[in-house]
Amino acid sequence: MTPTTTNKRIRPLFLNIAFIVIGGAILVFLFNAPKETTTKLPKDLTHSRFQEMGKKEAEKFCTECHSPKGVSPLPEGHPPKYRCLFCHKRQ
Ligand code: HEC
Ligand code: HEC
Repeated sequence: MTPTTTNKRIRPLFLNIAFIVIGGAILVFLFNAPKETTTKLPKDLTHSRFQEMGKKEAEKFCTECHSPKGVSPLPEGHPPKYRCLFCHKRQ
């Protein structure tokens, strides 16, 4: 921001619009980006019991199978896996 070159009457309006546009863009990004692309929790027998129970409770079971020693290890380079169901939405 260089005050010397900016028209004093236009600047506040411009800044407000820029703020709304940038803020809106960030919100749209945060709400859309993860759930559009990430695989959903499968709707099969293995995973059906996790549809009803609380998310935090369900996530305790995920690593029984989705770990290096489990039947279905996480792919290499998997993102930080703290909250499974935050990214792998239930459907
Ligand atoms: C009893 C073992 C087991 C448990 C517990 C389990 N899974 Fe799975 N999961 C599997 C197996 C096996 C597959 C691969 C075959 C399939 O798609 O069902 C799989 C596949 C997946 C997939 C990917 C499906 C695809 O399209 O490749 C996701 C995502 C997933 N599981 C998430 C979870 C989450 C989140 C939890 C915890 C709430 C969980 N799983 C608990 C066995 C398990
Ligand atoms: C920060 C978001 C995030 C979290 C948290 C997360 N994952 Fe993932 N997971 C991904 C992404 C991104 C991929 C890559 C494939 C895709 O786009 O679905 C992936 C892939 C997988 C796959 C392979 C599915 C496939 O389509 O190849 C499994 C299984 C899986 N995750 C299970 C889990 C489990 C179990 C947890 C919790 C211990 C977990 N994930 C937590 C984002 C996440």
